[in-house]
Amino acid sequence: MKPRVLAVDDDERNLALLMAKLEAEGYELGSARNGFEALEKVHSFRPDIILMDVMMPQMDGYEALRRLKSKEETRYIPVIMLTGRTEIEDKVMGFEVGAEDYIAKPYSLQEVAVRVKSLLRMRLLQNKLRETEKMAALGGMVDGIAHEIRNPLTAIGGLARRLADGETDPQHKAYTERIIKYVERLERMLQRIDEYKKILVSNLKPSDVNEVVMAAVKDIQEYVEGQGKEITVKTALMEGPPPVNLDYGNLKIALFNILQNSVEAIDKKGEITVATSPTIDQTIAVKISDTGSGMTPEEIRKIFNPFQSSKFEGAGMGLTITYRIIQDHSGDIEVESDKGRGTTVTVRLRPASSPSEARNRTI
Ligand SMILES: Nc1ncnc2c1ncn2[C@@H]1O[C@H](COP(=O)(O)OP(=O)(O)OP(=O)(O)O)[C@@H](O)[C@H]1O
Ligand SMILES: [Mg+2]
Repeated sequence: MKPRVLAVDDDERNLALLMAKLEAEGYELGSARNGFEALEKVHSFRPDIILMDVMMPQMDGYEALRRLKSKEETRYIPVIMLTGRTEIEDKVMGFEVGAEDYIAKPYSLQEVAVRVKSLLRMRLLQNKLRETEKMAALGGMVDGIAHEIRNPLTAIGGLARRLADGETDPQHKAYTERIIKYVERLERMLQRIDEYKKILVSNLKPSDVNEVVMAAVKDIQEYVEGQGKEITVKTALMEGPPPVNLDYGNLKIALFNILQNSVEAIDKKGEITVATSPTIDQTIAVKISDTGSGMTPEEIRKIFNPFQSSKFEGAGMGLTITYRIIQDHSGDIEVESDKGRGTTVTVRLRPASSPSEARNRTI
């Protein structure tokens, strides 16, 4: 998605030049002619950054800035003030009410473009940091709960198994077996939480993606053997793929989780195909298709959410883990599915130092 820039100026000519330049830089542009209009536009357009003239009729730039910075939902949008008055007091005033940057008129459009880019980049990093901190806090909490649950759960499971072993009454036996099933479900959840913790750091090294794919396929073949299903796993790998910056262990887990879902989606008999191929946007695609139960668009929308599962024994963490790993590889993941027919999950990874990766790095 293109970053959105809101340009605010009452001078039509300035506004048109500014917008043309920023549009050419690849941004989505919105405009307003005074402070009032800007405040209204902020809510409908949701800009990532605002360029604001100071001297405007009805409501000047400083007043609009003050109002933006006094509201929680708009205070984090970076604002660059554009003003013809170059006195230092103006600069001070701009920063006092919270402008992130200040450009004196007459300005060069190139300079505006550079400052917009650098502020957007800073905002992206700040957002990432905030997200990481949030996840760390949440992770700490989940970790604490998992720790408290683990020992009592082991005891419940152990005792229930002992009861089930010696039980002759069929009803009691059925009850204890149900207890064991619930315990196993919670154990899988705890195991997934542990896994999530382990994958939090990816050490990327240029490597052969086919090797990781083959290792995940080998693991899934072993897993299939224990499932009592008739599943054929086929591979179609591209020859000599360019090296990809990847973390071998983490990427293998990411692919295994996708494959495991495919196995679980196949009732008794079916097929899973794993293919690697180059794409037109110069990424390497790893495509995993199955002939399993498939999903509705509504179901697809939720699958990356933590603890979202349609299975009794599912923790709903497999794809949350996969998503996180693919993100750490600067890749993306796409799911297509047809209810009753099957699912295809495509992971796209960037070859080491590809042009698109270089482009991303500069944003
Ligand atoms: N290939 C697939 N075919 C059909 N449904 C799928 C497929 N992959 C994922 N899903 C759906 O997405 C949900 C979430 O998957 P996810 O792997 O995150 O959790 P899970 O498999 O339920 O539990 P676990 O944490 O043990 O992996 C699944 O419960 C399932 O409903
Ligand atoms: Mg799963």
